[in-house]
Amino acid sequence: MRAILPAKGSEKEVVLGRLRDMRSRDVPTELAKFNLLTPYADDSFFDVGLQALNMFGHENAMLARVIPSVAQVMKDITDIAMSLQNAPDGAGAAITAGGTESIFSACWAARDYWRERNPSSTATPEVIAPNTAHAAFQKSAHLLGMKLILTDFDENFRGRASDIESRIDENTAMIVGSAPAYPHGVFDPIEAFSEIAVRRNVWLHVDACVGGYVSPFAEKAGFNIPPYDFRLPGVRSLSADLHKHAYAPKGISTLIYRDAALLKYQSHTTEGWPYGVYRSTGFAGSRPSHVMAAAWAILHHLGEAGYLDLVKRMYRAKARLIDGIAGIPGMYILGVPESNVFTFTSDSCDVYAVAEMMEKQGWFLFRILKPRALHIQCDPFDDEMIDKVLTALRACVERVTKDGLRSGSDKTGYR
Ligand SMILES: Cc1ncc(COP(=O)(O)O)c(C=O)c1O
Repeated sequence: MRAILPAKGSEKEVVLGRLRDMRSRDVPTELAKFNLLTPYADDSFFDVGLQALNMFGHENAMLARVIPSVAQVMKDITDIAMSLQNAPDGAGAAITAGGTESIFSACWAARDYWRERNPSSTATPEVIAPNTAHAAFQKSAHLLGMKLILTDFDENFRGRASDIESRIDENTAMIVGSAPAYPHGVFDPIEAFSEIAVRRNVWLHVDACVGGYVSPFAEKAGFNIPPYDFRLPGVRSLSADLHKHAYAPKGISTLIYRDAALLKYQSHTTEGWPYGVYRSTGFAGSRPSHVMAAAWAILHHLGEAGYLDLVKRMYRAKARLIDGIAGIPGMYILGVPESNVFTFTSDSCDVYAVAEMMEKQGWFLFRILKPRALHIQCDPFDDEMIDKVLTALRACVERVTKDGLRSGSDKTGYR
């Protein structure tokens, strides 16, 4: 039945009560904190973000020019993003609504940059990426009229630099590497991609949407993080999402360019509109400033020490989960994931059936397609939660194996 706007409004407490009631029927908080159904939220810092969010409630970031507080928040966020990714002097950055918009904007910039350099070409500009690159590249290529060329992943689930290079020609507008790619949580060989980008003079975009606010701290904490950021000379743009592991509320990502002048290629100016000149950077017009304020508040509240602590706990959780899963007969981890994301499968039972059984108990394990496997994105889970997940998983695997159960569904990914 279609809902209608009530003829008369209700009291604040009635309205909020109804929302509270809806929320109470969602997955219980403890279970939802596993595998990102709800962001891992340590009340101590999440509340800071929510208070900042309230403070900037309705302000439009598009009008930052006349709202100094919003302009300052935006400058500070982009400065911090550029510092964390070791962007050189002269770099520039944009704030977007999320990973998909960052990827879209980078493709848009690379397309228009390519067009400017090939004014007489009627060819379709091309993006070359390992097929593990996020689906947002497919969506962006479709919307921007670009051709996306996908290469296969190797036995370690990484894109092959030689495959990428072999597809470069005069129509190449951009090559892409992920740090890490979402499906298996492994880094593409960005150093080799960068070397190709420099030698062949092509645009390299690094998709660090999921890893961008993990890797700088993981590297500082001594974990093995392959080179992926602007210290590599071929990296021209890089996306990193604040609404993932920087723990900002949903709706905010950063997109960094080695050269601030490149920002103009993801901007548009409309002239001759009766209202006057309309200029915007990125896809959106009006933009919410409340998520920016929340991100700003959380970044400043946690500081480097806070993120280092979270990342150490996140990697400890990952190590415990990987050890526990690898200890279950038949189960093994795919590749050597350097990030907080990893994938596992079994050679003795149907892992989709395991996921179905886990889901009935409230533990969501996302299913990936290639190969048939399950996916975990680690937050700084505590020991108690990890023990519960492993106990449930062991029991489900045992049952599925013993009874030879098969999943009747091929639902994978976000579907
Ligand atoms: C590597 C990577 N890129 C891009 C995205 C898309 O981000 P969003 O869902 O914020 O649009 C994701 C999301 O998980 C991701 O993991």
